[in-house]
Amino acid sequence: MAGFLAQARLIVAAFALALLVISAAPASAQRNPDGSVNPTAQSVKEQQLLNALGTGGSISGRVSIPDQKSGNLIHPAGRDWRQFHEVTLRWIGAIAILGMLILLVAFYLIRGQVKLESGPSGRRIVRFNAFERFVHWMTATCFIILALSGLNITFGKPVLMPLIGEGAFAAWSQWAKYAHNYLSFPFTIGVFMIFLMWLAWNIPNRVDVEWLKEGGGIVGHKHPPADRFNAGQKMVYWIVVLGGTAVAVSGYVLMFPFYGTSIAGMQVAEIVHGVVAALFVAAMLGHIYIGTIGMEGAFEGMWDGTVDVNWAREHHRLWLEKEMAEGHISAPPPKGKMQPAE
Ligand code: HEM
Repeated sequence: MAGFLAQARLIVAAFALALLVISAAPASAQRNPDGSVNPTAQSVKEQQLLNALGTGGSISGRVSIPDQKSGNLIHPAGRDWRQFHEVTLRWIGAIAILGMLILLVAFYLIRGQVKLESGPSGRRIVRFNAFERFVHWMTATCFIILALSGLNITFGKPVLMPLIGEGAFAAWSQWAKYAHNYLSFPFTIGVFMIFLMWLAWNIPNRVDVEWLKEGGGIVGHKHPPADRFNAGQKMVYWIVVLGGTAVAVSGYVLMFPFYGTSIAGMQVAEIVHGVVAALFVAAMLGHIYIGTIGMEGAFEGMWDGTVDVNWAREHHRLWLEKEMAEGHISAPPPKGKMQPAE
């Protein structure tokens, strides 16, 4: 009898061991040979699990607070978004912005500054009034701070934090975020004012086609006629108006989360905001280049509001002719260089 009991105990133990081995098998199938977890193993294929649960791509529980989104436990689409946010957007931004900087340096080295070829006449004409300059510089100042604080959101952690340390990065990022939120308001107002005050001069027409065919006098050394704004400036204007509207709308969706948007809507807003902002910054680098070192005599028009008459004749002949016809400049401007007073 004792022998039979001992034998029965052995059989039960062997059976239990076999069960243990069988139940442990799936767990070992989830592991790579080196012991690390293999997330794509058959037994943990997430999509299969989600399909089996019939939950439509995510797993949610029940919560007793009004915000039902907080019951969302697993949302795989969020990982695609994270991949975009942490990898794709950084590539788009780096290629657009560094690419533009490289192009501008190459252009400056090859073409050099667009010179005032007929020299200064000594006569000046009003190009932008005080209100126009105020709106321009208010928008530009906001834009530069928005651009730097926005780039910090995308590139700060991998680029700046290792350089200045976690504490300093946290403090700077907090202030940068405040600036990014609050300066969005004057920036939006500025873009709207730019739209209204310069719309009349930015409707594309046949003069622009000719100007573009001639390389705008920037690629070559010709001076194709242009009105108050040439085709290149009209492009800048529409980039500012349309790009500014896109970043503003998507930005306010992000600033006031879930007011009429779902998680998917928020993700779309973030993608639009990030991509448009990166391209916008790259485009404005081109604008800043031509408004400063790229073209002799351009900056003054936006700084003190006046330009040399010879500059106006070389770059905006049709506009100068209209200004003269309206008597905004008293006498015909001298053709050549400035003559010494007698
Ligand atoms: C340091 C930054 C900037 C500089 C030095 C600068 C310089 C200038 C200058 C000199 C002009 C007049 C060009 C002319 O007389 O024909 C101008 C025009 C203009 N600026 Fe800026 N700007 C800057 C930033 C910005 C920013 C950030 C925006 C908008 C977000 C902007 C929008 C415009 C627009 C729409 C025009 C009229 C079209 C054009 O001339 O291209 N600017 N800027």
